[in-house]
Amino acid sequence: MQATKHAESDPKSARASAHGTAARGGSDTAPDAHYDFMVVSNRLPVDRCSPDEPGCEDGWRRSPGGLVTALAPMMTKTDGAWVGWHGAPDEHVQPFSHGGIDLVPVQLSTRDIELFYEGFSNATLWPLYHDVIAPPEFHRTWWDSYRKVNRRFADAVIHHASPGATVWVQDYQLQLVPKMLREARPDLKIGFFNHIPFPPPEIFAQLPWRRAIIDGLLGADLVGFQRSSDAGNFMRSARRFLGASVKQQQVHVKGSDGETTHIARAQAFPISIDVQQISELARKPEIIERAKQIRKDLGNPKTILLGVDRLDYTKGIRHRLKAYEELLADGKVSVEDAALIQVASPSRERVEQYRLLREEVEGTVGHINGTYDTLQNTAVRYLHHNYPIDEMVALYLAADVMLVTALRDGMNLVAKEYVTARTNNDGALVLSEFAGAADQLKQALLMNPHDIDGLKDTIMKAVNMQPAEAARRMRSMRKQILDHDVDLWSSDFLTALEEKVIRDDS
Ligand code: G6P
Repeated sequence: MQATKHAESDPKSARASAHGTAARGGSDTAPDAHYDFMVVSNRLPVDRCSPDEPGCEDGWRRSPGGLVTALAPMMTKTDGAWVGWHGAPDEHVQPFSHGGIDLVPVQLSTRDIELFYEGFSNATLWPLYHDVIAPPEFHRTWWDSYRKVNRRFADAVIHHASPGATVWVQDYQLQLVPKMLREARPDLKIGFFNHIPFPPPEIFAQLPWRRAIIDGLLGADLVGFQRSSDAGNFMRSARRFLGASVKQQQVHVKGSDGETTHIARAQAFPISIDVQQISELARKPEIIERAKQIRKDLGNPKTILLGVDRLDYTKGIRHRLKAYEELLADGKVSVEDAALIQVASPSRERVEQYRLLREEVEGTVGHINGTYDTLQNTAVRYLHHNYPIDEMVALYLAADVMLVTALRDGMNLVAKEYVTARTNNDGALVLSEFAGAADQLKQALLMNPHDIDGLKDTIMKAVNMQPAEAARRMRSMRKQILDHDVDLWSSDFLTALEEKVIRDDS
């Protein structure tokens, strides 16, 4: 898609006015610039950094994470803009450009972060949408904040979108934005993509504001999900809670007079990764060397097992540790022969459930290591850090067995990154059937992480897998991912959005 950028006012005078009391970003863009293509997500694809940190440019650095990995290539290719929170509480930042992407920051106050982000987004919606693994909390003050903040994001788009622009809203934090956009700007083509699961109506029913959320999403022309089961759940909720008529993938949205106002389409578009980036890194001599060094540093064990997750209760880290501890206790693996590396990147640390999880995981790791470590060997290398992608790829190359044991996960891009990095077609992927990636990676060792005995058997199968079987499975998984990278995901979604709108207009 070819997108153009227009400035209503003289960009030079606009830049001059951007230098007021507000903090500056990289190079300023015109505050009144208009865009034909806009992506909207809770977070902008940049983080604040200090100048001495690697990759830091003008106080900002491209941030890691699935969504950024997914959309950055698309944003740099098109001349669009990204609307989102810049990650600094109470700080007003003018629109600016970083790494070739125009960014429109949305401000969140300390209180918005508490009520909208930590509260409604991550202590109500997140657990509700992930099979209520943790109990969701329902508070009216959180909901009020969610509505207010969604309005702020919508207003930023309304202000910056050119007539007829395409707007792509991302994820559960912004489910009311599509309807707000449609009401104010019926000229826009509106897409929404939910990166996390959409729960069955029987669970979604708990949400006191279930109708408003469905109504908000139905403002989009196209609502995308990771799995077809998520799209099915959404359509069943639209029928049950709004009385919408649903035929195949079409939801007929009715106005207050009962007449159909428009048709929204709900469909699965499984997200993927930047295959080229990971493949190139996996072939770099210095990264291959680093992988060898990691193995050596661990004392050259026969098997390296690896877990890489945000420290989130949906990821099944406790189940994985339990299975591993039992394998050590059963004598099926020993610290001399095997090492488990668990990277747990810090996440949502002020939310109670995340604090509790961290305590529990760290207590368990301490207990396992205290029981099974020797002076030379450590059972679990637990790393509560973020690592740059180069180091992640070195870890993927070092790992013989990758453990993805999520209890529920929209997709899980780590599984796809691991497979992509295994350019020699070796290594084994243990993958939860509750991760969206299981729909595409059918040759992984699929298992139910709640079944600890089953998980242990699967880990042992991975540890003992013959090279020929590993290669057969890995080749087939690699083909799937190499044929379906993130560019295809975004172009499939945007093409479907374009075609749907053209069909409706004709
Ligand atoms: C998941 C969500 C994203 C979110 C990311 C990190 O992948 O789908 O929307 O940005 O987690 O979480 P955070 O709360 O740090 O943005």
